[in-house]
Amino acid sequence: MISKQVTIALFLLAFSPSTFPADTLQIYQNITDGQTLVTPNSIFELGFFSPGSSTNRFLGIWYAFSPDTVVWVANRDSPLNNTSGTLILNKSGSLKLYDASGRIVWSPRTTSSDGINSPILQLNESGNLVLKDQTSDRIIWQSFDYPTNTMLTGMKIGKNLRTGFETYLSSWKSRDDPSEGDYTFKLDPQGAPELVVRDRSQIKSRSGMWNGLYFSWAPQTSTYTSLFNIRFVWNQDEVSYGIEMKSASTISRLVMNETGITQRFIWDQRNQKWNSIYFQTIDECSSFAECGPFGICQRDGIRACSCLKGFEPVAPDEWSIKYTSGGCKRTIPLGCSTDSDGFYKLEGVEIPYSHDAIADASIGIEECRKRCLMNCSCVAYTLLDIRGEGSGCVMWNTAVLH
Ligand SMILES: *[C@@H]1O[C@H](CO)[C@@H](O)[C@H](O)[C@H]1NC(C)=O
Ligand SMILES: *[C@@H]1O[C@H](CO)[C@@H](O)[C@H](O)[C@H]1NC(C)=O
Ligand SMILES: *[C@@H]1O[C@H](CO)[C@@H](O)[C@H](O)[C@H]1NC(C)=O
Ligand SMILES: *[C@@H]1O[C@H](CO)[C@@H](O)[C@H](O)[C@H]1NC(C)=O
Ligand SMILES: *[C@@H]1O[C@H](CO)[C@@H](O)[C@H](O)[C@H]1NC(C)=O
Ligand SMILES: *[C@@H]1O[C@H](CO)[C@@H](O)[C@H](O)[C@H]1NC(C)=O
Ligand SMILES: *[C@@H]1O[C@H](CO)[C@@H](O)[C@H](O)[C@H]1NC(C)=O
Repeated sequence: MISKQVTIALFLLAFSPSTFPADTLQIYQNITDGQTLVTPNSIFELGFFSPGSSTNRFLGIWYAFSPDTVVWVANRDSPLNNTSGTLILNKSGSLKLYDASGRIVWSPRTTSSDGINSPILQLNESGNLVLKDQTSDRIIWQSFDYPTNTMLTGMKIGKNLRTGFETYLSSWKSRDDPSEGDYTFKLDPQGAPELVVRDRSQIKSRSGMWNGLYFSWAPQTSTYTSLFNIRFVWNQDEVSYGIEMKSASTISRLVMNETGITQRFIWDQRNQKWNSIYFQTIDECSSFAECGPFGICQRDGIRACSCLKGFEPVAPDEWSIKYTSGGCKRTIPLGCSTDSDGFYKLEGVEIPYSHDAIADASIGIEECRKRCLMNCSCVAYTLLDIRGEGSGCVMWNTAVLH
C-alpha cells in the first residue's frame, strides 16, 4: 500500500516538473499573457485582458465563468499596448509586471521585505490576490486592500484608525478604460460613519449614518438579510463595512460604475447571468444638500423644497425660481436658554449629513436631549443605534444642517 502511494507521488513529480498549483505563483516563475491563475473553486481567474473595445492589456481578476466581469485591475493607470507583459515574483517578495522592454509597468506598494525568504503569490478563493511569506504566514500585500471599482464578499471598505489607511472603491474612467475615474466610494468615519460617493471632492450621494442595522438612507441593504449579513465594525482600531453571504454558493458583488452609481449583483446560476438586486436610486432629492441648510426635500415627482417648521427661506426670490441651495433660516433666533428653546420632533425624514455630528454611544436619548438643549451650538439630536429600545446619541453641533 505504502509503496504504491510513493509510486504515484513520484509519477506526478516526474511528469509535471514545471507546473505549480493553478492558484499560485512561486518565486522565479512568471505569468505571461495567455497564462492565468485559477482558484480551486474555479470562481476567480487572474491574467491579462482587454476591456471593452480597447486593445490595451491589463493584468486583472475576473470571474472564471463570466470573463467579461472584471473585479480588480493591477496596472489600471499604466496599460500595456501589446501582449508582452510578464508578472514575476522574486526571492525577496518583490512582485513586478514588466513590459517587453524591461520597464516596470506595475508593482504593488509593499512594506519592508526584511525577513522574507519564501514568498508566494496566491489567488485565494474569495478573489483576493495575496502575496505572503510562507515561513511566517505574514501577508506582505493583498489586492483586497487596494480595490478598484468592485467590492467582493469578504472585502472590507473602511479606515484603519490607527494608521489612517483607507480601503475604498474608485470608478473606472469608462467601459474601455479601467484607469481611475472621478468617483470614489468611501466609508466616512467622521461623526457617525456613513458611506459617501464623491465626484472628485464633491459629495454626490451618501447612505445616511449606520444605525446599528443598516445605513439609514439605504434600508434596501437590509432587506436582503436572507442572502447576507452586513459586517459593520466600529471601534478604536477601525471603522469598516463588508458583507458575508449566508450561503457560500451565492456569488455577489457590489460595483460602482463609471457614473458613480453603486449596484449589487447576484449570479443567477440557472440562467447564467448577473441579476441586479438593488442599485442606488437617483431621484430629485438625491443630490447632496439640494434644499440647503434646514431645508427639506420631498419626493413628489418634481423637486419640492420646503423649510423646517420655524424656518423660512434665506432668499425667497431664489426659492421661487427653484434655486434652493441657499436653504433656510430661523424665523425666531434661538434664545440659548433652556426656558425659551425646545425641540420639534421630525419623523419620516432622512438623517442629516453626519460628518459634522458628534456621536456618543455611552449616553441615552434623554441625556442626549439635555446636552443638546444646554449647548447653544447644538441644533439637533437623534439615536445612534435603533436596535431594541434604542441607544446612544448623535448631536449636530454646527449651525448648519444638511
Ligand atoms: C518566464 O518563465 C519561463 C519558464 O520558466 C522562462 O523560460 C522565461 O524566460 C520567463 N520569462 C521572463 C520574461 O522572465
Ligand atoms: C507600444 O509602446 C511602445 C512604447 O511604450 C512603442 O514603442 C510601441 O510602438 C507601441 N506599440 C504599439 C503597437 O502601439
Ligand atoms: C527583488 O527585487 C527587489 C526590488 O527590485 C530588489 O531590491 C531585490 O534585490 C530583488 N531580490 C532578488 C533576490 O533578486
Ligand atoms: C510591446 O511593447 C513594448 C513596449 O511596451 C515594446 O518594447 C515591444 O517591442 C512591443 N512588442 C511587440 C511584439 O510589439
Ligand atoms: C482570502 O483572503 C481574505 C482576506 O485576507 C481572507 O479573509 C479570507 O479568509 C481568504 N480566503 C481564503 C479562502 O483563504
Ligand atoms: C450605471 O448604473 C446605472 C444603474 O444601473 C445605469 O442606469 C447607468 O446607465 C450606468 N452607467 C453606466 C455608464 O454604465
Ligand atoms: C457644545 O458647544 C461647543 C462650542 O461652544 C462645542 O465645541 C461642543 O462640541 C458642544 N458639545 C456638544 C456635546 O454638543
